Amino acid sequence: MTELSWKPHPGPQAGSGRPRLGQVLITRDQIAGRVTALAGEIVACYDHRDRESFELVIVAIMTGSLIFLADLVRALPLPVRMAIMMVSNYPGATTKAQGVRINYDLQEDVAGKDVLVVDDILDSGQTLSVVVDLLRRREARSVRTCVLLDKILPTPKRICPDFVGFPIPDRFVVGYGLDYDNRFRNYPQIAVLEV
Ligand code: IMP
Ligand code: MG
Repeated sequence: MTELSWKPHPGPQAGSGRPRLGQVLITRDQIAGRVTALAGEIVACYDHRDRESFELVIVAIMTGSLIFLADLVRALPLPVRMAIMMVSNYPGATTKAQGVRINYDLQEDVAGKDVLVVDDILDSGQTLSVVVDLLRRREARSVRTCVLLDKILPTPKRICPDFVGFPIPDRFVVGYGLDYDNRFRNYPQIAVLEV
């Protein structure tokens, strides 16, 4: 298959030093290999064989997890139900956390269910800890967390995820679902955003 080259976003201020794709940190092939391995780790963790009624409720944090989610669930040979929440911490054209906001809440009853929260990236951990607290208050049977990327920070995080795809340096990254101002989500690998 011939690869088409990726065109930069025109953006509102075209030509004036707008944010653009920088160094590729994780390639398509590396992502694909790791997602398959992560799915294996997740299956091994749920001892579901004894329970006829076992179902895993996947709670995806939109919109960043969209592409990771699509690949991950197709590699999981488990009965799953899928639910979404829309949560934002970096809305619009910013690379600084603005405080966690739930923009769309879950429509699924999680009481008594095994829940796996899936997000694109763990930075401070604020987003995931807000969601996990909420699911615990709603009496989920178990709540585990899975992120594709975990930023290595000098300060301790509010939460330690159960499943991590890749640890990455403390840079703002885009691609494979991750955005800057809702752009670059369809770039198929993980790249540093150059500002
Ligand atoms: P936290 O709440 O500080 O852990 O940030 C996690 C959320 O912020 C994720 O769900 C992402 O949507 C967003 N985020 C954090 N870092 C990045 C990044 O480097 N690129 C794109 N989105 C990010
Ligand atoms: Mg997010």
